[in-house]
Amino acid sequence: MSTYAEIAVEDLTETEAAAELARLATEIAHHDQLYYAKDAPEISDAQYDELRKRNNAIEAHFSELIRDDSPSRRVGVAPSSGFAKVTHAVPMLSLENAFDEQDVRDFFAGIRNFFRRPEDVARVAADAIEVMAEPKIDGLSAALRYEHGRLVLGATRGDGVTGEDVTANIRTLRNVPKTLAGKGWPDVIEVRGEIYMEREGFFAVNAEREAAGEPVFANPRNVAAGSLRQLDPAITARRPLKFFAYHWGETSAPFARTHGEALEHLSGWGFTVNPRSRLCHGVDEVLAAYREIGADRADLPYDIDGVVYKVNDIGLQRRLGFVSRAPRWALAHKFPAQQAQTVIEKIDIQVGRMGTLTPVAFLAPITVGGVVVQRATLHNEDEIARKDIREGDTVVIQRAGDVIPQVVSVVLDKRPSNSVPYQFPEECPVCHSLAVREPGMAARRCTGGLICAAQAVERLKHFVSRDCFDIEGMGAKHIAAFWEDGLIQRPGDIFRLKAEQIAGREGWGELSAANLIRAIVQRRRISLDRFVNALGIPQVGQATARLLARHYRSLDHWRREMEQPDNEAAHASLLDVHGIGDDMAADIVGFFAEAHNRELLDDLVHEVEVLDYESPNRLGPGGAAASPLAGKTIVFTGGLETMSRSEAKARAEALGANVASSVSAKTNFVVVGADAGSKATKAASLGVTMLDEGQWLRLAGLGEDAAESTASGAPPGAG
Ligand code: IVH
Repeated sequence: MSTYAEIAVEDLTETEAAAELARLATEIAHHDQLYYAKDAPEISDAQYDELRKRNNAIEAHFSELIRDDSPSRRVGVAPSSGFAKVTHAVPMLSLENAFDEQDVRDFFAGIRNFFRRPEDVARVAADAIEVMAEPKIDGLSAALRYEHGRLVLGATRGDGVTGEDVTANIRTLRNVPKTLAGKGWPDVIEVRGEIYMEREGFFAVNAEREAAGEPVFANPRNVAAGSLRQLDPAITARRPLKFFAYHWGETSAPFARTHGEALEHLSGWGFTVNPRSRLCHGVDEVLAAYREIGADRADLPYDIDGVVYKVNDIGLQRRLGFVSRAPRWALAHKFPAQQAQTVIEKIDIQVGRMGTLTPVAFLAPITVGGVVVQRATLHNEDEIARKDIREGDTVVIQRAGDVIPQVVSVVLDKRPSNSVPYQFPEECPVCHSLAVREPGMAARRCTGGLICAAQAVERLKHFVSRDCFDIEGMGAKHIAAFWEDGLIQRPGDIFRLKAEQIAGREGWGELSAANLIRAIVQRRRISLDRFVNALGIPQVGQATARLLARHYRSLDHWRREMEQPDNEAAHASLLDVHGIGDDMAADIVGFFAEAHNRELLDDLVHEVEVLDYESPNRLGPGGAAASPLAGKTIVFTGGLETMSRSEAKARAEALGANVASSVSAKTNFVVVGADAGSKATKAASLGVTMLDEGQWLRLAGLGEDAAESTASGAPPGAG
């Protein structure tokens, strides 16, 4: 063990923190291996938790040091060598989370806005849309594949794309059918659901382990995960695991029209489905279901952490499709965060890369829901004033999922008598320029711009961060030092650094300097989306960068569109990107309008090669590799009667098309709606294939003759 293990997280230097993270990654991996693969842990769960907590605490302080192999980045445990890998035919997705009622209402509003066909509008109205609400089981998901009614494969979720073959272990679960009962099941069906352990079983397992002098498990979820991944199925068989079916992956034929109907079939075929699942009409009924399930939470024999909502109609589900890793038709409404009380020791102001002053509360460390919390965001000065939060106050804090802890309220009874209201600074704590609030804005911003060290360093930190250029070894402190000494002023300078300039500086040797240069060289080729994200344009994060990359395909094309002499034209081009609104477009156009930003780009493209966007070939369900739209460029012009722009674009993109805003010789299809203008004329002059609405619907698999195969999904032999 290295000597740094004894140093408190706040006292670690960056070098020490990096060494600690390396040690913890190795140690935790070692104990995972002992625990999960060999079932022979050497340390108690509490000691193990301490390791993970320390890892998380260091990462919270030194986010730029988070390793690729960090224990916190692993979903569950890395596949152990004992199991064969399984690639899921249909990826196992996760769910979008909702933390409050407004998130749920937004979800429903999003669905209403998606559908414009007259026959859909009434069905998706706020008080009418059919949604199933079901408990969100706190276990681990698994996929069970049946061929001709026989269980042939059981797999863990893994990272969603690749899991582990745990068939022998799954076979030991008493409530998993080995052969399907009833009739009407498709020849191939992959039933998905949650493997979990009831609290009673969990206590029994722990009692046994305690009696045998073995370390006990922390919660039912851990013991379920550990049990499923036993190399010896006999051990799994002794652990009382259960399975709830709630979804499915690949099927040789559709088997239900609605989620509720699917659950009925699954139940008829021998699966346990959750008896608390229920059909709701509209958002208010859904919220009532949430409250009821929440009220009974403690009485259920197993742990749940929220309620999952699923649009009931499978035809609508298919049309809604997916956004990145989660379906648009489902939502996980989490139960409220766990709360705790602690003292605010100090309020500090951090300056972001756009100059925003963010107040942060430094707390007396406290454990909330199993994680040590030392900092909480205070959002902005209004928030502090509204809640009258002061240094020295005892406050209620809460964590919701992975979100940064928040201060809920002040415990006034515990306020010290000498307490004074917090004065928000009116100047930047770093460069001392005036910090101003523009009318209508919540944030106070430093006006220092390019002279503010904090902003410059934050922008560079963002540039090299994991989702951008991902330059390993270039931590915040180094960037600050390089910036102060004038070694790096703008991003392009990073690529002109020489090992000789770095070696010999404080904290650097020949080897570490050479390593840094190597890490930089490795990043000279970069994907378009990372490049766009790295620019740090206000409001443009990873998701928007991806939208832009997918839409414009190459940096040259994007720049041409953005740097047109007419800002209006650039703005209009952006509005054609599905997911980009007026505000964001204005920020992007504003970025390009600044001469120094264009110079920065010119400088940067001398140093790096930005790769053109390549369409991912992994399509979610509903997408088809054989789609006539795959890889094609399509333009919509004029209004469509049967669907909104959003739905048309989502559909085209789900089928692998690139949706463009303007017609060119590269355009494959132009869909001409009502009142189409110049784009249609241009398409005609270029000889681009033009489609009317009916032709588009058929091409998209939504036309009259396509309805049977795509929209309804009549159950084979059902009824
Ligand atoms: S549906 C595409 N339903 O929650 C939809 N998931 O946070 C797939 N989970 O990975 C998931 N209860 O492990 C669904 N009733 C339920 C669930 C549920 C628990 C888990 C599941 C998933 C995770 C997402």
